[in-house]
Amino acid sequence: MTPDLVKHTQNNEDIAIADRAEQTVEQAAAQDHGPRHVAIIMDGNGRWATQRGRPRLFGHHAGAKRVREIVESCPDVGVKYLTIFAFSTENWKRTQVEVAGLMSLFRRYITKEARALDGFGARVRFIGDRVRLDAKLIKLMDDLEDMTAHNTSINLTIALNYGGRDEVARATKRLAEEVAAGRLSPEDVDEETLPKYLDTYVLPDPDLVIRTSGEARISNFLLWQSAYAEYEFIETLWPDFSKEEFAKLCASYGGRERRFGAVKT
Ligand code: FPP
Repeated sequence: MTPDLVKHTQNNEDIAIADRAEQTVEQAAAQDHGPRHVAIIMDGNGRWATQRGRPRLFGHHAGAKRVREIVESCPDVGVKYLTIFAFSTENWKRTQVEVAGLMSLFRRYITKEARALDGFGARVRFIGDRVRLDAKLIKLMDDLEDMTAHNTSINLTIALNYGGRDEVARATKRLAEEVAAGRLSPEDVDEETLPKYLDTYVLPDPDLVIRTSGEARISNFLLWQSAYAEYEFIETLWPDFSKEEFAKLCASYGGRERRFGAVKT
């Protein structure tokens, strides 16, 4: 090998090594980062109340009180988006007393917490189908969204009468209407287009989904959006979930390697 060729080969090797080193640094940086978007299935309120010999609604009230502490801890752990599952499209199957109690809790929660959430800089959004919700609740939801629209410290999304399948079905219906009206061609319907019709169209996909209370199911929550999310199923019942445990889960996410279907390099 001539000295020039040796030099050239060495350069190429150096570049290849530097590239590899850079990738490793990038990957390490990605792993060091906590989740930007955390979604939580707040489960276990009923069991928490039963353990105390109290009615299930007592557990829901205790659960509602946990929300503020977790929301306010988000900036400390680098979470910019928090999405919480408050009521699913399947929850209507509960007793009339529990459903009515939950609806009344949501109205009271919004009325009572609006000022604190706004003061904290939370931008609140609601996802889910509003058709079955009562007009008073819808008005409170709209007003809270409007009131907090300028906030930037944390994006809090509350899933209320939300179901992942229902959301995809509603999105598909709207897409079909666009196609039928000639505003969209069937060829344009793909993985980029469909999410624009989902309730979450302004949100990034969740990085981490937490479910409390020991159940290892996703129960129709953010089905499309969580395709590559990491999951944590923890034993703690929601009313006992603390900001310390939340911080630990976010920190342990930072140690995971997400490959989005690619091969480890
Ligand atoms: C699941 O626990 C919880 C719910 C269906 C309601 C979630 C609501 C809250 C945490 C309170 C309100 C939230 C806001 C944002 C105001 P479960 O009743 O299924 O518990 P179980 O599995 O122990 O019966």
